Amino acid sequence: MAKVLIVTGSVRPNSVNGKIVELVRGAVEAQPGAEAQVADLGEINLPFYNGATPPSVDDFEAGNEAARNWSELVKAADAVVLVSPEYNHGLSGIQKNAIDWLYHEWTDKPTLFVAYGWYAGEHSLAQLQEISTVIKWKALESSVGLKFTQDIDLDGNVLDENVSQLLAESMTKLVTAASPESV
Ligand SMILES: Cc1cc2nc3c(=O)[nH]c(=O)nc-3n(C[C@H](O)[C@H](O)[C@H](O)COP(=O)(O)O)c2cc1C
Repeated sequence: MAKVLIVTGSVRPNSVNGKIVELVRGAVEAQPGAEAQVADLGEINLPFYNGATPPSVDDFEAGNEAARNWSELVKAADAVVLVSPEYNHGLSGIQKNAIDWLYHEWTDKPTLFVAYGWYAGEHSLAQLQEISTVIKWKALESSVGLKFTQDIDLDGNVLDENVSQLLAESMTKLVTAASPESV
């Protein structure tokens, strides 16, 4: 079974993130041989990055249990989906902070970016591409951007039936990249 870790991106009480996460979960579970696990960053409750060194150094040790648990979760995943809102033309602070806590855990991890917002999450996706020049995810070339009032409504409900198809195609690519034969 390919374990696909779906990472949340918002802790607002009326966030649409949960709806998009459920859409992604459905797309993962529709893939033969794949299982979904959600990493709820609100529950994981990482401190703002306070490591004495960057996590890229060889002898890095996270000084807190939340970061150690987060590291184990990502290490155990065969693939990752980041579900990213767009705040002020970038990632949410909670998601950027979660990315920053790890380094080697991300390396070669098949990763799909799913972003949403008024510009279909294009600025968050651009930021993730920029981050990819440092964090060596095996990021899928095609990410998914969902545009408010066109692809999804303001509550996160799907408006365009192509969205499910798009997610399904991306998920097939992600699970294929996560399979042992693709290594
Ligand atoms: C602090 C903040 C900044 C925002 N900036 C943007 C933005 O730059 N671009 C955009 O498309 N939407 C922006 N929005 C609107 C969000 O896309 C919208 O509120 C979305 O529902 C946020 O995701 P969430 O509900 O999962 O938190 C912003 C929202 C917040 C709270």
